[in-house]
Amino acid sequence: MSYDWEGLVQEDRVHRALYTDPAIFNAEMTKIFGGTWVYIAHESEIPNVNDYVTRKLGLRPVIVLRDSNNILRVLYNRCTHRGTTLCRHEKGNARAFQCPYHGWNFLNSGKLRGVPWADGYSADIKDEKFNLAQAPRVESYRGFIFATLNLEAPGLLNWLGPMTKPIDEWLDRNPGGKIVVCEANRFKYKGNWKLAYDNSSDGYHVIYSHRSLLEMESRLSDEANKGMAYYKNSPDSLAMYVQYMGNGHHFKDKRPNLQARPGGLWAIESTHPGKEYAEAEFRRKYGERADSLLDLAGSEPVNINIFPNLSLLGNHIQVFQPISVNETDAVWYGTRIEDVNGDIGDALGTINALRMRTQEGFPNFGEVDDLANFEQIQVGLQCEEDEWIYMNRGHGIPDRVKTNADGTITAPATDEVFMREYIKEWKRLMKGPTPLSIKREP
Ligand code: FES
Ligand SMILES: [Fe+2]
Repeated sequence: MSYDWEGLVQEDRVHRALYTDPAIFNAEMTKIFGGTWVYIAHESEIPNVNDYVTRKLGLRPVIVLRDSNNILRVLYNRCTHRGTTLCRHEKGNARAFQCPYHGWNFLNSGKLRGVPWADGYSADIKDEKFNLAQAPRVESYRGFIFATLNLEAPGLLNWLGPMTKPIDEWLDRNPGGKIVVCEANRFKYKGNWKLAYDNSSDGYHVIYSHRSLLEMESRLSDEANKGMAYYKNSPDSLAMYVQYMGNGHHFKDKRPNLQARPGGLWAIESTHPGKEYAEAEFRRKYGERADSLLDLAGSEPVNINIFPNLSLLGNHIQVFQPISVNETDAVWYGTRIEDVNGDIGDALGTINALRMRTQEGFPNFGEVDDLANFEQIQVGLQCEEDEWIYMNRGHGIPDRVKTNADGTITAPATDEVFMREYIKEWKRLMKGPTPLSIKREP
């Protein structure tokens, strides 16, 4: 495939083809969702030996599992006989998988264990070519499991680079620093996957796109400073900022807007059913500790966006899963916390129940606004002759965008510099040769 990548991705605008061309989408499934590290599951979803979940690596169906020897693997969920989907469940616990078609049986290391009526084969069914394909590289960072098919990609830690700091802070605000991933709110939209990633640090749209949510929050709480209210007046003059972190990752940090005190986070938590009752109970029961305990339930005001498909925001993990050039799944996993060192005590259950409430709000009342925008962009991009869309906010204004000593780039909260920078990484990956490989158990 030969494209004029420099022509399609310019300094302040990109061509509509990035979002509408099926050939570009297919190349992305190789060069990005294959050629670079892709988030695939969280370790807490497969805590025990033989646990598995089924996911996709780009369009490849895979089984992410902890095998009988406690090794994390990403097996292709594709029988080596005739290619059908081997495991048809979303999750479970299994030492082996039997193909529903002709009954070939595979250990969870990927090795073919046996086939029905083996005397009908002249071929050696112990040949490794019959073992399941699997991702040659699987690594996890603090519970987040990533996979790549590119042996030449940098190590996961290098690739995350300065992103490890916001990830660490997001985890370590809970004593013990562990989260458990829970069930999900599942959304689908008729638009390209990059529309969601473009939006994930976008501070420009909030007050307009989410106006009804902001108005409802203010009305129900009798206060004007809940939820995302800090976007209301002049967001660029506030302490919050957006930062491009390299390798396609970006970070929106709204924490500097908060009052730095116990309870400062809970003070801006949006309204939800049972909130006032739970808060009064905490104050009665825990006295001075109540504020810091309630903060553990509050939505962390950050957007930690890990290219190409993972966002940590509030108390959520959001995953973008491409389906086709104009169809994407956007999955919002809730998280609960654990009392690793016994610091939280009997407040844990209520904190996790409150976290669940905080996690119902935005996906139901805010994500729908965003998805409507993505779908309408995809409609607008059908206008073939009107070729460009812009990501030029903050571009060319002296001193507005700052490059830091570590190479990261900081800008006011509504700037689109993060889009301009991540799309350069996208272009670099799309231009380059991508040596993909699989491995099989010997
Ligand atoms: S396709 Fe799996 S056993 Fe035939
Ligand atoms: Fe939004």
